[in-house]
Amino acid sequence: MSFPISNERVNIMINGSRLLKHLHDLSQIGRNEVTGGINRFSFTPEEKQAIELITMYMEKAGMTVTVDAVGNIIGTYGEGRETIMLGSHIDTVPEGGKYDGALGVLAAIEVVQTIHEQQLSPAKKIEIVAFKDEEGTRFRFGLIGSRAMAGLLTQEQLLQTDASGISIEEAMKQFQLSPFPLEKVKRNDIQAYLEMHIEQGKVLENEGLPVGVVTGIAAPLWLEVTVTGVSEHAGATPMLIRQDALTAASEMILAIEHLLNDTTDSVATVGKLNVEPNGINVIPGKVTFTVDIRDIDEQKISNLENTIFKKIQKIAERRNVTLTSKVLQRVKPAKTDPMIQQQLINSIEKHGVQSYSLISGAGHDAMNIAAVAPIGMLFVRSKDGISHNPLEFSTDEDIILATNILYDSVVELAN
Ligand code: GLV
Ligand code: MN
Ligand code: MN
Repeated sequence: MSFPISNERVNIMINGSRLLKHLHDLSQIGRNEVTGGINRFSFTPEEKQAIELITMYMEKAGMTVTVDAVGNIIGTYGEGRETIMLGSHIDTVPEGGKYDGALGVLAAIEVVQTIHEQQLSPAKKIEIVAFKDEEGTRFRFGLIGSRAMAGLLTQEQLLQTDASGISIEEAMKQFQLSPFPLEKVKRNDIQAYLEMHIEQGKVLENEGLPVGVVTGIAAPLWLEVTVTGVSEHAGATPMLIRQDALTAASEMILAIEHLLNDTTDSVATVGKLNVEPNGINVIPGKVTFTVDIRDIDEQKISNLENTIFKKIQKIAERRNVTLTSKVLQRVKPAKTDPMIQQQLINSIEKHGVQSYSLISGAGHDAMNIAAVAPIGMLFVRSKDGISHNPLEFSTDEDIILATNILYDSVVELAN
């Protein structure tokens, strides 16, 4: 059967209990039983297990599953010449929640499974991608799969290493992948890319609305700052002659917070700190910390990068320590496509819900795909705006409603 006419489509519903079961089952992989947090990082046994599970779901949904050269898992449905792509990620931050990324992949699979069960024949091919390493937890470098698909990943970036010195390239090879030449992963045939994701903020909750349409995505710049002082005896070194890397770094971190307190949209976070030699009775000789800077405006990110560097350089000079800074990752902010936005709005309104447009403060694979295709994003309300935390939560009702809206939009876009 080909696609039914529009007003019939809204009556076809996805299988909510199946989707919720999939969400639960995936959340058990990499779960810390004590905290409830999920730890699923790239190229690990946990990720492998998650890949096996979603591959099974994709196959049950009538999809053919392939893996591209950097490890993106791609389910394909139908044979149309044009491609509608749906996607998100299945890796997590340390102690992450069960919805970030996973929901987008599983909701997309549920949409295709519904299309399959309805025996519909979309005019366009539908692909679902679980992108390789969106979060960047393991290598302090993320969005790897979507970067590659957009032609933005370089061979040099694959040299970045994890905490035990294994590079992305080595990890890929250990996972039986042959990433080179990276150009073979690039796609130029995507007609539209759609990603459903939890909001991870409080905007929809404050508005009392279950879903929202994303207009733009703020992008992260990640820096790694190394402060080097002199490691000496904690008892025998007078206070005034110390070159303590940790007190210097502390002043820098507070200065960054101060600088950002004067801006309205930009945010910056120091989320990772490494102290050497990390001994109780040793003055810290070396400290490394990361800075995550975000804005929807690329120029503002770059201005902040300069201002922050100048400020912390002054602190380093005054405290007689040395400072180096390197860029771990830089991503371009992206705008979503007005036509896809309108399609999402139509689907939301068809379901009797008021539509609402908002910006994403969090980053998404869609940001990269924007370089090669028109993108759209549908947000689902997050409880208390909490995310990157085991307490991350969206209600079953909101999830099912959003997935029905996604279904409706995909049917329209694929026809
Ligand atoms: C991913 O969640 C990011 O925005 O860092
Ligand atoms: Mn995330
Ligand atoms: Mn995410």
